[in-house]
Amino acid sequence: MLKTIGVIGAGQMGSGIAHVCALAGLDVLIHDVAPSAIESGLATISGNMARQVGSQRITEDERHAALKRLTAAEDLDALAKADFIIEAATEREEVKQAIYKDLCPRLSSHAILATNTSSISITRLAAATDRPEKFLGVHFMNPVPVMQLVELVRGIATDEETFSAARNLCDLLGKEISVSEDFPAFIVNRVLIPMINEAIYVLYEGVGSVSAIDKAMKLGANHPMGPLQLADFIGLDTCLAIMQVLYDGLADSKYRPCPLLVKYVEAGWLGRKTGKGFYDYSGDEPVATR
Ligand code: CAA
Repeated sequence: MLKTIGVIGAGQMGSGIAHVCALAGLDVLIHDVAPSAIESGLATISGNMARQVGSQRITEDERHAALKRLTAAEDLDALAKADFIIEAATEREEVKQAIYKDLCPRLSSHAILATNTSSISITRLAAATDRPEKFLGVHFMNPVPVMQLVELVRGIATDEETFSAARNLCDLLGKEISVSEDFPAFIVNRVLIPMINEAIYVLYEGVGSVSAIDKAMKLGANHPMGPLQLADFIGLDTCLAIMQVLYDGLADSKYRPCPLLVKYVEAGWLGRKTGKGFYDYSGDEPVATR
């Protein structure tokens, strides 16, 4: 019976995951290396729940009760109480492995450890833990409170009990699941990120402007956001990291990251989170930069 969820990383994804778990009635311990990140993650959750109250998706009482179920876990020892831990740290393998090394000795022996990685091998990450059979990929989509899907990914050693526990958690959260084998970037990002990379090539080659490309895909393919707007939303560093995982993992030149994407990341233009990417977010409305 799942009661307490641990979330590691209080950024965009970690705070979204903590949000939906708390609303589903679970106690949530939220940890980040930076205590200030926990504070801002909790503030984001409170604000996003207020949006849901505003659009009558939840009541103020439900928001209040959910916020009470969220606890800041300033050190990893606090996660000893968790039954199921979801790591949503930076998308860098060495960062995740260092977290598992510190975390695993503190966890209860029955605890399941899941990663929200969007592209890294589950089997390889599992091998850096003390419990590969109790480890799997549980990949949420951004924004977590809105998107219906969670991808579930077994590593080579994941046991059935662990997989069922993850499926039950997704049921409780009201999410749909899609099961993917453990191949680079799984299903969603294997299809989505090369599409975004191609849109960046289209910009790089001068085929169309930022607005022309986004308008074309919004109105011509009924996508809710244009690919460049979506790239800024996901974060250009994350898009580049996923392209690199595809390029290295599948060894096919069709996955080469667009040089313009690399240049934007080198410039620190990472999209919405830094205020500039394919759009400039410093004014009231985003303005296309090319
Ligand atoms: N928390 C809670 N609610 C939120 C929210 C959040 N963070 N963000 C948006 N919402 C709610 C809004 O309150 C609004 O609710 P109501 O319908 O109840 O009024 C609803 O979502 C729609 O939001 P908006 O009206 O502000 O704007 P929109 O209609 O343009 O929708 C969007 C915004 C849902 C983000 C939509 O543009 C969209 O679906 N975009 C595509 C998102 C996408 O593709 N995500 C996947 C990214 S890939 C990924 O995540 C995988 C990876 O590993 C990289």
